[in-house]
Amino acid sequence: MSARFPELAGKVALVTGAGRAKGLGEAMARRLAAEGVKVVVTDIGRARGPEMPVTAVGTEEEMAQVAASIREAGGECTAMALDVLDEHQVRAVIAATVERYGGLDILVNNAGIGYLMKPILEMSLSEWDAVLGVNLRGAFLCTKYAAERMVAQGRGGRIVNIASQAAKSGFPFASAYCASKHGMVGLTRVTAIELGKHGITCNAICPNHVTTGLGAWQNEYFAKALGLTLEAYLAAMKGRIPLGRPGLPEDTANACAWLCSDEARYVTGEAMNVSGGEEYH
Ligand SMILES: NC(=O)c1ccc[n+]([C@@H]2O[C@H](COP(=O)([O-])OP(=O)(O)OC[C@H]3O[C@@H](n4cnc5c(N)ncnc54)[C@H](O)[C@@H]3O)[C@@H](O)[C@H]2O)c1
Repeated sequence: MSARFPELAGKVALVTGAGRAKGLGEAMARRLAAEGVKVVVTDIGRARGPEMPVTAVGTEEEMAQVAASIREAGGECTAMALDVLDEHQVRAVIAATVERYGGLDILVNNAGIGYLMKPILEMSLSEWDAVLGVNLRGAFLCTKYAAERMVAQGRGGRIVNIASQAAKSGFPFASAYCASKHGMVGLTRVTAIELGKHGITCNAICPNHVTTGLGAWQNEYFAKALGLTLEAYLAAMKGRIPLGRPGLPEDTANACAWLCSDEARYVTGEAMNVSGGEEYH
């Protein structure tokens, strides 16, 4: 894909949770790299703790493959392991990014847990903490240290938080997920208010159901919980979407690139739906 926003060439971006092929993080990293951005693709690298199924983890190998395929397409990209729950790692990876590429202009808080879905009456405290931890504490930590660097550089910056339709509406069996994504919108607004004077914008993107990444897992869970086949569940979902199809990772990547561009310089504190019209408040 050719560059749409030439002003992005040479900027430096760090994308969290971007190590899985077909994930939203991978699509955003790929799109930013196509715009000439030097991209650091990060992910946890291996499962931590009993709650994390191996299938939900961007492994070191997958992350390396994502970075290699972005380089093969002509982009500048490096992979680094980063557990967003670990303050020390967050600081170290931001320092390594600056050392590698000379600065940091864009942070995309994309890492997320979506697979711990249960009715409130069955959800354990440790499951709740795991979801809130990655989805919210992780975004806070990365925002704090990336913003520290952007403020010191004095050339502004962009922070893009990948929230969800679950930041605007409630979904059954997703109390921790919805609470974390609603919280992310609050974090977005406060970050926008506090950092605006430094020329740093902060916006959230709220995608609806994507059939890849953790969305695939959630769709299967909802279908089962509602006693439907996956096909029947997806058909009903499609029927609720005015534009008639589920979201694609590229839809979120397009919104992300625009939010990072000069065209979006007067847009901050927003929680932008990318949902084919399914969500509109
Ligand atoms: N797929 C959808 O339908 C959908 C819809 C709306 C929002 N989202 C959001 O998009 C983001 C990306 O999700 P995806 O669907 O691309 O799935 P994904 O599984 O590809 O991405 C999530 C990534 O987060 C990583 N991660 C988990 N714990 C981590 C930790 N402690 N530190 C660093 N990384 C960690 C995982 O390894 C994984 O690579 C998530 O925040 C998700 O909530 C997804």
